[in-house]
This record gives sequence, C-alpha cells and structure tokens, in this order.
Amino acid sequence: MKSFFIVIVLSMAGNLYAQSLVNLTPRPKQMTEGQGEFELRPQMIVAYGSLPDSLSIEAARFVSDLNAATGLQATAQSRKEGAIRMQQVADCPPEGYRLTIDSKGVSIEAGTSAGFFYAFQSLKKMLPANVMARTYDNKKKYAWPCVTIQDEPRFRYRGFMLDVSRHFFTVEQLKRMIDIMAAYKMNHFHWHLTDDQGWRAEIQAYPRLTTVGATAPNCRITDMKRGTYWTNQPYGPHFYSRNEMREVVEYCAQRHITVIPEVDMPGHFVAALAAYPEFSCNPTHPITVWTEGGVSREVLNVANPRAVQFAKTVLAELCDIFPGPYFHIGGDECPTDAWKDNADCQHLVKSEGMQNFRELQSRFTEEMSDFLASRGKRTLLWNESITAKGSDLARVSKNHPIIFSWFPCQEGALMAARNGLQTVVTEFHSATGSYYINRKQSNQPGEPDGAGKGDDTVERCYNYVPVPASVPSELQPFYIGIQATFWCEWVATNDYLEYLALPRLMAVAEAAWTPQEGKDFEDFRRRMSLDREMLDLRGYNYGKHMFK
Ligand code: ACM
Repeated sequence: MKSFFIVIVLSMAGNLYAQSLVNLTPRPKQMTEGQGEFELRPQMIVAYGSLPDSLSIEAARFVSDLNAATGLQATAQSRKEGAIRMQQVADCPPEGYRLTIDSKGVSIEAGTSAGFFYAFQSLKKMLPANVMARTYDNKKKYAWPCVTIQDEPRFRYRGFMLDVSRHFFTVEQLKRMIDIMAAYKMNHFHWHLTDDQGWRAEIQAYPRLTTVGATAPNCRITDMKRGTYWTNQPYGPHFYSRNEMREVVEYCAQRHITVIPEVDMPGHFVAALAAYPEFSCNPTHPITVWTEGGVSREVLNVANPRAVQFAKTVLAELCDIFPGPYFHIGGDECPTDAWKDNADCQHLVKSEGMQNFRELQSRFTEEMSDFLASRGKRTLLWNESITAKGSDLARVSKNHPIIFSWFPCQEGALMAARNGLQTVVTEFHSATGSYYINRKQSNQPGEPDGAGKGDDTVERCYNYVPVPASVPSELQPFYIGIQATFWCEWVATNDYLEYLALPRLMAVAEAAWTPQEGKDFEDFRRRMSLDREMLDLRGYNYGKHMFK
C-alpha cells in the first residue's frame, strides 16, 4: 500500500513537471509553480524605489526590450509600488535573485545588478518567445505564470570560447552568439583572438600583425550545402579594430558577460611570426600563416628579450581595451623542438641550470603573468602549462593562474586543484561526453565534415559530469566553472557555427547554472523543443538531431 502511494506521488510529480508552464533554461535552483497568471498591462510600471543607477539601469533595459518586442508602454520609475517591484536585499548570493509572481504582480529581490539582470532575463524567458528573440508582435497575450523562484548559479564561471583565428566571424555574428549566452545566463566570453592561422586583434605598435598576420594564403571552407573545398584565394586580412573590440566588450557588459581576450603563446603563434619572423627561433627561415590545423614547431623565441618584449607590448595594448580582470595567454600544445635547436635557448637553459627545455615555457609564463599582474590582470592558462612533462609548477603557479582543463581534462583539473589552483572544466572528449561543441554531434550520412567521429551528441554533452563525485570535497571549491569551447578549423560560416553550437551551448549553460541533481535530459529536450520558436524567429541554425 505504502509503495503504491509512493508510485502515485512520483508519477504525479513527473506529470506536473512535464506540463510545467514555466519555460526556463537553465532550470532554476528552486521553483514552485502556483495557480493562475499575471497579465501584463500596457502602462505597467517597474518600480525601482531608491535603488542606485547601477541597479535601476537593469529596469530601464528590461523595459526597453519588453516594449520593443510587445508594443507595451511599460516604464521604469523610482516609485515604491508598481506591477514589478524591485528590492535590494543583503541575503542574496552574488548573481542570485528571488522572484515571486502572483495574480497581483511581480516582486524581485536581489543583491547585485547581475542578480536583477538574471531575474529580468527569467521574466523575459517566461513570456512568448518573441520577447527573448527581440522580434515585434503586438497581437500576443503577454502573461507570466504564477511562480516562486529562488535562484543562483552553481558555478561562478559559465563560459563560451570562440576561435576566430582559424576562421573569422564578424562582430554582428559574435553578437548573435552573445545573445544566446545572455539568454541562458552565461557570463564569460573567452575570445580566442590569435593562433597559427590568423591574428585578429589590431595592435598599434605592430601593424604587420593585422596585414601579414591576418591573411592566410588559402582557405578551406566547409559549406553546409556544397561540402568542403579550398578557395585557392588569400583569406583576409580579417581582424577586429580597437573600436570593434571595445564594441564587443560594451555589448557583453550590458549582458553581464566578461570578455576574456586570449593571445595564445608561446606556441600556436605562427601568424605573429609570419609578420615578425625576427621573434622566431630561426629568423632567416621564411614563415607563412598556416592554412591547416595541427601543431606547428615554429614558436616564439622565449630566450630573446626583444621577442619577450614584443609579447608584453601586445598584452599591454589589449589590457587597455579589455577592462575585465582576466587575460588568457594560452600555453597549450607548445613543442620544444625549435628551442632545442636555438643557441639563445640552449644558453638560457644552461646558464639558469634548467633540467629541460619545457622549463623555458614555465619561465616565460611566469614572466608574462608577472607582467599581467602589474597591470591588475589575472592570468588564465590551458592545462599543459602545468601538465606538460617537465613544467616548473612553482614558477607557473606563482601568480595563481586559473587552469582551463581540456586534455586530459579531469586529470588536469585535479592536478590544478591539488596544487591550490582554480580550474575551469572544458572537456575535449571522453567516453562520457565533451564540452568541445565544435565536434560533430552526429555520424548520420550527410553530416558536414568536421572534428570528431560524430559521437559528441547533445545528450552526452548534457550528461557529462564536470565535477565527478570522486573529487575530494576539500578540492571541489577549486572547480570554479565550466566552459563550452568552439574551434573553427572546419567552421567558416555562420550557419555551420550555429548548427554545431546550438543547442549544445544551452546544455553547457544548464550544467553551469543548475545544481547537478536538478538536471534531467528529457526535461531539457522538452524545453529546447519550446525554445526552437525563439531560435527560428531570429533565424538561428541549430542541430535538430535531439528533436527526432
Ligand atoms: C586546445 O584545445 N588546444 C586547448
């Protein structure tokens, strides 16, 4: 009898859940659905009371988005009473908020501007899809379901990385991706600006970076309809001007997204060395911008003080453009062969009593992160900076870098944590899933060429566990977040970028926000089916495999 009762209760809960009227992704930490709804009124007031400008601006932005999509004439006012009431409270976690909707109106409590922003994002997301899509429709009924939400993110770092070196994407296209990040409450845009195949950031002191360094001699395109082909034309120069980088920073800031520039060094540096071969290990040897993927043996000559100064000058210029607290200097996949053959490097290794040539990289990383620290920036690194055999952990760790662990992901993250370093998990590929969302999500015939074998499905991405239960509890606080990472060796066009990234970006967003025990793939599938309307309204391309 008792077990019969339990079965009834569980299946009712399942049904209620499935029929939820609240379409929110990522799923909130706690949510209780009520009865009825609150219908939005044309002259609705968002009352921000005596909140300072830094908080009330969230009300103004919400009202502007809402009115533009609905034709309502809501206003944000410094009154105490209104259909939506905002109140600052001291007991909400950073980025957290409490939202109560009943038949009389809406109450929002938060402690920070980010908290209010996420509450307003939730409000927009619960309305018809055109509101989040920012497309005008004044004929719909606009109402919120009655609900109580208490929400905060699981991780403070919720990232998306885009490689714009292998192929270039315009600011307009970046904004489309940033809109998705904001809709799903992601908060760090990691902008991989340089690599072997192209330098994409204007640097005033070194103009050849964005002429020679931003132009590849040829280009491979994977067209979603025509297949893969070489253009046999120069590709570029493609780069972002200083003003365009500032524009992206500002666009992100309005959405509570911090931009992290990445200048990958001392490896993955061929485009820079094509422009300034004097900073390579073999200056008389001509170097051209790469057209294919892989790892080059051409790397920065870290034993040449002028080459090191060049790298610092580049970082200094970008530190002035990117106001955020972080700077990523890569450090992945850096062969030491060219250093072994170079007299300066041989001399430095000997004179400083290093055990191996990898220590040259650790020494360089320390010097660059000292420099970044002097500019008020924290260094971010790929995991090889600590996991590559022969690395000098003490030197690399000195300025407390954050380690982005990709391969071997869990081992790298654990090693970072054991050494007192914070880590961001961005799994390359494992038996249980991947956060490299450029990899093929299906091996069906007709799938465009791409990285991977097609087993990195949305479901495996969603179900990947970023912090396994085996991680000792005292180390878990070092796992500060997770990231969806997107490389573009195969991806040259906006439609293919979106097709691969969506909806896996949302799967990672939910893993970043929702507690592990609150996740459920079937419910995610249901909510993504509803979100197709928003994606379709904005003309996004997205993988449809999970909907079949
Ligand atoms: C990487 O995928 N090379 C960080």
